[in-house]
Amino acid sequence: MPMNKSEFIWFDGEFVPWDEAKVHVLSHALHYGSSVFEGIRCYATESGPAVFCLPQHIRRMYNSCKIYRIDVPYTPDQISQAILDTIRKNGLRSCYIRPLIFRGYEQLGVEPRTCPVNVVIAVWEWGAYLGPEALERGVDVGVSSWRRMAPDTTPAMAKVGGHYTNSQLIRMEAAEHGYAEGIALDIAGYVSEGSGENIFVVLDGVLYTPPVSASVLPGITRNCVITLARDLGYEVRQQLIPRELLYVADELFFTGTAAEVTPIRSVDHIVIGPGRRGPITTKLQNEFFKIVSGKVQDRYRWLTPVQPD
Ligand SMILES: Cc1ncc(COP(=O)(O)O)c(C=O)c1O
Repeated sequence: MPMNKSEFIWFDGEFVPWDEAKVHVLSHALHYGSSVFEGIRCYATESGPAVFCLPQHIRRMYNSCKIYRIDVPYTPDQISQAILDTIRKNGLRSCYIRPLIFRGYEQLGVEPRTCPVNVVIAVWEWGAYLGPEALERGVDVGVSSWRRMAPDTTPAMAKVGGHYTNSQLIRMEAAEHGYAEGIALDIAGYVSEGSGENIFVVLDGVLYTPPVSASVLPGITRNCVITLARDLGYEVRQQLIPRELLYVADELFFTGTAAEVTPIRSVDHIVIGPGRRGPITTKLQNEFFKIVSGKVQDRYRWLTPVQPD
C-alpha cells in the first residue's frame, strides 16, 4: 500500500519532519535485523481518535526487547505518551502506528550491545491491509513452502525486524502464486500463521487457533477475538491444527492489527465452506468493529483516547 506521509516522526524524544527522520547506513539494525517493533491502530470514534490495545502492544514490545536484551532508554509510560503525542501532533483521526526500537550506529560486530538504542514512532493514515474488499468477501490464500521458525532458532514470541525475512518469503511466494497471503506451517508440519496474521478455524461451531508453541506471534487481535468469541458463547481451543483441517473447516479467518478480522474463502484453491464470509466470522467482525469504532461501550477497555491538546 502507498504510504501517506504525515508531518512529524518522533525520533529519540524529538519531533522531526517526516523526510528528515534518517539513520546512518551502518546502523546495526540495517545489517542484522536488530530492531523491535509494533504495529498498532488508532481508530476514529465519535469522541475522537482512540488507540486500540495500547498497553498490550507496549507490553509485547518491551517483552521483545527483554528477549533480545535491549535496554530501552524510555519507560513504557513514556513511549505510550509519546505515541499519543505523535498522533495529536500530526492531527490524525485514525492511523497506523509504528513504534520501532533499534540498535543504531557505533560498530558493526554481530554482538550488538555496544551500539546505541534508538526509538522512533511514526504514524500515518492507512486502510484495509488485504484490500478494501477483503473484509467482506474474504481472501484466497495458499499454504507456504516456507515454515515458521523452529522453537530453538529465533524466538517467535518476539516481534523483531530480523524475523520478518521469514514473513517476506512467505508473502512473496503467496503473491507469485496469486494469493493474497500465505499460511506457514510450523517445524512439525502443523498450521502456524500467516506472514503477518494469526489464523482461526471454525468447525461445528467451535473455534480453533494454533497455540503459542506452534511458533506463532502471540497476536493481540488474536487475544481480543478469543475474548469476544468466548463472551458470545463459543468454545475456543488453542490446539495444534493439521493442514487438512483448513480445507474441511466451515469458516477460516485471519486476525491481526493490519488484517483486523479478515475471512479466508479458499486455501490452495480449495473453497472453504460456501466460499464467503461465514456467520461466526461475521458476528466476530461486527462485534470487533463496533467496539473499535466506539459504537458500543468499550467493555474490555481496549481503547485509549487521544485527548485533544
Ligand atoms: C507474524 C505475525 N503474526 C501475527 C500477527 C498479528 O498480531 P497482532 O494481532 O498483535 O497485530 C502479526 C502482526 O503483528 C504478525 O506480524
